[in-house]
Amino acid sequence: MDPLGKPPPSSEITPEPLYLRRRELLRDALLFTATSAGVGGSLLWLTQGRRASERQIQSTAANTTTASPTLTIAERGLYRVDEPLTPEGAVTSYNNFYELGTDKSDPAANAQTLRPRPWTVSIEGEVSQPLVVDVDQLLQWFPLEERVYRMRCVEAWSMVIPWVGFPLGALIKRVEPTSRAKHVAFTTLLDPEQMPEQRGDVLDWPYVEGLRLDEAMHPLAILAVGLYGKALPNQNGAPLRLVVPWKYGFKGIKSIVKIRLTEEPPTTTWNLAAPREYGFYANVNPAVDHPRWSQATERRIGELRRRPTLPFNGYAEQVAGLYSGMDLQRYF
Ligand code: MTE
Repeated sequence: MDPLGKPPPSSEITPEPLYLRRRELLRDALLFTATSAGVGGSLLWLTQGRRASERQIQSTAANTTTASPTLTIAERGLYRVDEPLTPEGAVTSYNNFYELGTDKSDPAANAQTLRPRPWTVSIEGEVSQPLVVDVDQLLQWFPLEERVYRMRCVEAWSMVIPWVGFPLGALIKRVEPTSRAKHVAFTTLLDPEQMPEQRGDVLDWPYVEGLRLDEAMHPLAILAVGLYGKALPNQNGAPLRLVVPWKYGFKGIKSIVKIRLTEEPPTTTWNLAAPREYGFYANVNPAVDHPRWSQATERRIGELRRRPTLPFNGYAEQVAGLYSGMDLQRYF
């Protein structure tokens, strides 16, 4: 059954192994485009780079289509990477958000289709106090913090981003997990009108990601509602997205509508698409290569030379204890 009334998906008319192989080839092509596009992009951003203090007072980048009200930030500087910020224009124009397109520039170009208000989030599953809450109400509950984190994409590029958000753990505590809760599943909005690429089948929609409960409760894991002091642009996952800085960027699911506590680990979108390439843990690990490229170094957007990738993306001191005793080659 197809709720969109479009022709049957190719899975119905092509033998499955062939269909799966086609998807694999398409994904390879996408990643190749992404990687090669990025090389040119970094030169452009280098010429556009400005000092952080100048950027703070610049209005939102040209490609940002959301109205971006300034957020009230209660706390700054507690969590800060002492490295130059990636220019705002790069953070908001070089994106992965497949629901809005598969090229890096598509999400900004197509961002206007997403309507981040009104927006409700459901927190449910293994909790004593499930709730459905309007995102503006959420912003009243938790004081907002600025957190300057590194972000390392599995495609081997990275950025340093000043996020605005609040600890995910604070929200989870509020709904009172039951003793059976061991994992957390996050789901992106499913609405092909707002997310046109959901009409196609490049991924299984809606996008789903997951964490272990103790990972979700770690103080570094946040729900971001802004960046560079302003509300999140649509292309960065408005109105609410996950940021887990010690994991590859694909864990940072965007435009979340559901947070579900579960006993079993959820099936995640990228793990389903390519289980040998994208594990559930997805901790940044320079010692474990992606099957098709090395993870030992990365290209920081705006820099010419590659830099070494750090274990847990530089957050080992804070998070390595979560994985003590685990074989991180095996549980990638
Ligand atoms: N969330 C959704 N819903 N859809 C996506 O395609 N891409 C992921 C992640 N979250 C993605 C998503 C990937 S691969 C990365 S690297 C980051 O978002 C990119 O975040 P950014 O565009 O804000 O840099």
